[in-house]
Amino acid sequence: MTRTFFPDLTVVVPTYNERGNVRPLVALLEKALEAINWEVVFVDDDSPDGTAREVRAVARENPRVRVLHRIGRRGLSGACIEGFLSSIAPIIAVIDADLQHDETRLAVMFQALADDPDLDLVVGSRNVEDGSAGTGLSSLRKWGSDRANGLARRLLKITVSDPMSGFFMLRRSSFNEIALDLQKQGFKILADMLSASRGRWKVREVPYTFRERHSGTSKMDSTTTVEFLGLLISRLSGGLLPIRFVLFLMVGLSGVVVQLAAVRLALALPGVAFFWAQIVGVFVAMTTNFILNNKLTYHDRTLRGREFFRGLLSFYVVCSLGAVANVGTAQAIFSVWPNWAVASLVGAVMGALWNFWASLLVTWRAR
Ligand code: GDD
Ligand code: MN
Repeated sequence: MTRTFFPDLTVVVPTYNERGNVRPLVALLEKALEAINWEVVFVDDDSPDGTAREVRAVARENPRVRVLHRIGRRGLSGACIEGFLSSIAPIIAVIDADLQHDETRLAVMFQALADDPDLDLVVGSRNVEDGSAGTGLSSLRKWGSDRANGLARRLLKITVSDPMSGFFMLRRSSFNEIALDLQKQGFKILADMLSASRGRWKVREVPYTFRERHSGTSKMDSTTTVEFLGLLISRLSGGLLPIRFVLFLMVGLSGVVVQLAAVRLALALPGVAFFWAQIVGVFVAMTTNFILNNKLTYHDRTLRGREFFRGLLSFYVVCSLGAVANVGTAQAIFSVWPNWAVASLVGAVMGALWNFWASLLVTWRAR
């Protein structure tokens, strides 16, 4: 079969439970992109509501529509990256499925890239003059979003006003320069791209008004913000520490506090010896670490029901072996170089690395 057309623009739409938005969005794109040779690819992470099935049905009626159906994977950033990589168009864009972004801005962004060959990226910004957060954001989220924006701008040396935007268009050649450097975990692909481009990109902003979601519910939650903190630290480490490992360490640190509090409480009970209080503390900390990692670090692989309990047991085993690795390494170091602080620290690092890798491969193994 011969191709019927070659798109100049691929619009990538990441979806998770957005069935009711597919048709309305395609209808709006048809209107907004009349003058452009475009296509849309919905990157769906096997949504339980059957979004991918709906996209296939629409695609059979409309050759501009494609689906990329991913199984066993979750994540907004990774979905966008794979959508970009699946395209042959020289210009690529991302837009929310839920009609929150003003699709009529796409033509303006496209024109800006066509007019200026040096331009790499056009960002749909809620914060520049004329653009506004409209009524689409709750005031608490607006506050959090503003704080995260400020932090990202300072730490990642990003100069655009809305680096958290999920609405933007860029040149494929520019994307290819940084594709290998991007993190697939997380929500903030734009901030990650801007940071990866190290200020070399020419960027323009196009204001728009953030609208109310059409159908379905938001996938952003409290974990998204912590995950973003993980992205910042990961970037500051020059990419040495992946987001997941940063989150794992953050949870581990919280476990130290939990353990101390639990030991203190246990000691307050009559007749409890320190030895038993310490054991209680360790188990409480391992349990809260498991719960937090399950919700945050392995957000995309959260274990539920029976799996949750099986995971908890395997996590206890993993951590116990981690403690053995910790003590063993510290002892070995100490025997050649009797500096307790160095030996103990290296032991702790070994234990943390073991716990991370083993839990990744055993407790939360990808299926
Ligand atoms: N494939 C895939 N996998 N898509 C996902 C996933 C996922 O794990 N999580 C979310 N999506 C899709 C949603 O279905 C939606 O189309 C889009 O990504 C954005 O998710 P929303 O749930 O609509 O996020 P939001 O509207 O709360 O947040 C928006 O505004 C933020 C700025 O405050 C998004 O545009 C964010 O990217 C943006 O940072
Ligand atoms: Mn949205």
